Amino acid sequence: MVKQTNTKEIVLKMLEEKKDYVSGQEICDELSLSRTAVWKHIKSLKSDGYEIDSVNNRGYKLISSPEILDKEHISEHLNSKWIAKDIIYLSSTDSTNIQAKYYGENNHKNGTVVVTQEQTAGRGRRGRSWVSPAGNAYFSILLYPDVRVDRASMITLIAAMAVARAVKETASLDTMIKWPNDVVANGKKICGILTESSTDLEYIQYVVVGIGINCNQTEFDDEIKATATSISLETGKTVDRSKLLAKVFEYFEKYYETFIQTEDMSKLHEQYNELLINKGREVKIIEKDNVRVMKAIGINDLGALIVENENGNREEIISGEVSVRGLYGYV
Ligand code: BTN
Repeated sequence: MVKQTNTKEIVLKMLEEKKDYVSGQEICDELSLSRTAVWKHIKSLKSDGYEIDSVNNRGYKLISSPEILDKEHISEHLNSKWIAKDIIYLSSTDSTNIQAKYYGENNHKNGTVVVTQEQTAGRGRRGRSWVSPAGNAYFSILLYPDVRVDRASMITLIAAMAVARAVKETASLDTMIKWPNDVVANGKKICGILTESSTDLEYIQYVVVGIGINCNQTEFDDEIKATATSISLETGKTVDRSKLLAKVFEYFEKYYETFIQTEDMSKLHEQYNELLINKGREVKIIEKDNVRVMKAIGINDLGALIVENENGNREEIISGEVSVRGLYGYV
């Protein structure tokens, strides 16, 4: 049984590497198989979702591969130094943040990632739940940043930058950030980020950055329909989640290392502001029982949103204390 799985993988590798027709004879010779055995492997690959063309006298050609989110596929695309070198993949779980916190309590490796396809108890910001159906990507990154406790919240901004860039690059979708950390496409949210940490007064024990990206979801509940979307709904294409996550990790690692050098956004705020959808727009600043309209300028070195009133007076808005909305809707 094990041998058969390995042989099938080698047949697949041959098809992937050649990128053209591979003759049945070539596969037989390479793997010392009979024609019937080769044909059986091809049939099995097809039932796994691989599209393979067979032409008499030419052989087999891989046309397309199924979209798979798992540890092997992420690692295959991964180009990072330390992040996601340890991936804990769970086909379903309660919440990747809950799982990652457990690993944090047990001093698991810095950069460990917990990934799943669906969550049964997904958590959102402000105590809300995060509905997490299959088809999307939900993951949490475990970190031990040696920075002041009050600086940890900026890691969320970095995560939003990494997701926005990775989606742009892998799905060719124009993605931006709604301050502080919602990633949006065509005015709707495609990603939410919840950063949780274990700290004492002066010391960060660990940080867990939980990221949910709406990848291949096609339907949304009525309550969120107007403000939420998925990458596949916006592009009309299936998202290769493993490829996307590998890119998120690559960008995250880069931005995180820059952040750690200065313990602030001084070397990153320009790039963040380029992605900020609110920049230069009028926004509603919603405080407890007060709504004001101001113009958003961009974030400062500490990640606060600088806003300006009609007289040109500026002030800093701190994340967590207020909500920011567009004048006519979500952004
Ligand atoms: C938000 O409210 O916008 C934040 C949502 C964060 C959801 C992600 S999905 C992966 C990780 N695990 C969770 O339970 N929540 C975060």
